[in-house]
Amino acid sequence: MRVIIVKNYEEMSKEGAKMVKELVIKKPNCVLGLATGSTPIGLYKELIRMHKEENLDFSQVITFNLDEYYGLSGDHPQSYRYFMDVNLFNEINIKKENTHVPDGKIPLDKIEEYCREYEEMIKKAGGIDLQILGIGGDGHIGFNEPGSSLSSRTRLVALDEQTIRDNSRFFEKIEDVPRFALTMGVGTILEAKEIILLANGVKKAEVVAKAIEGPVTSQITASALQLHPKVTVILDEEAASQLRRKEYYIFAHEAEKKINLKLF
Ligand code: GLP
Repeated sequence: MRVIIVKNYEEMSKEGAKMVKELVIKKPNCVLGLATGSTPIGLYKELIRMHKEENLDFSQVITFNLDEYYGLSGDHPQSYRYFMDVNLFNEINIKKENTHVPDGKIPLDKIEEYCREYEEMIKKAGGIDLQILGIGGDGHIGFNEPGSSLSSRTRLVALDEQTIRDNSRFFEKIEDVPRFALTMGVGTILEAKEIILLANGVKKAEVVAKAIEGPVTSQITASALQLHPKVTVILDEEAASQLRRKEYYIFAHEAEKKINLKLF
């Protein structure tokens, strides 16, 4: 695991966007796994800037989002489809038909089949080359709440109380937050060829330390990333503040810069 500690949110966003840019240049038809939440907004802003100012070309890029609230249609302002359109897709030259966000309006009796198809589409596209992740207050990735199997696949899940509370800031009132979501599973996420986990702010410090340095446990689904061979964690100083091996991560990152190689 590479752990990169930067000064602030802006640097975290730039560092993440730089990795996406390198991939899009190297493989113009790459498959990106995308996340929502406040964490990746700065990274998306930076990608938009790169597109507008540096002609970064997304015309062949394919994307798959991690999750969607169940019950919200894509034109609902709190849906993750809407979030992606507004915060990224509408501002770059990606083809809308190449962007995939789970459909929150699939009828209950079609969900299993739909989730299987979502996974099939990822496979047909060649698998996810680079997955971007945030981390929930309870340690979730996607909407894989504590207790999710570490080999779980795309499915319908019930949201945890803490997640409903955390995410209620985006809704008018807490009662409006959906109680269910569709999410890629932990097992699905671990199949990505490379993964970036972003976290910022002191509120994430404790859960980040548990995810990176604690035991691998379904109680903190982000800890499953320890099982993946190519994960880069990009943290601002606040989110990194409870890491025990902080000095080593800083040393290792300085060392890899000298030889111009990523050391996982
Ligand atoms: C939601 C999303 C996650 C995201 C998390 C953190 O629950 N399903 O993918 O990582 O929020 O949100 P934020 O980045 O706003 O802290």
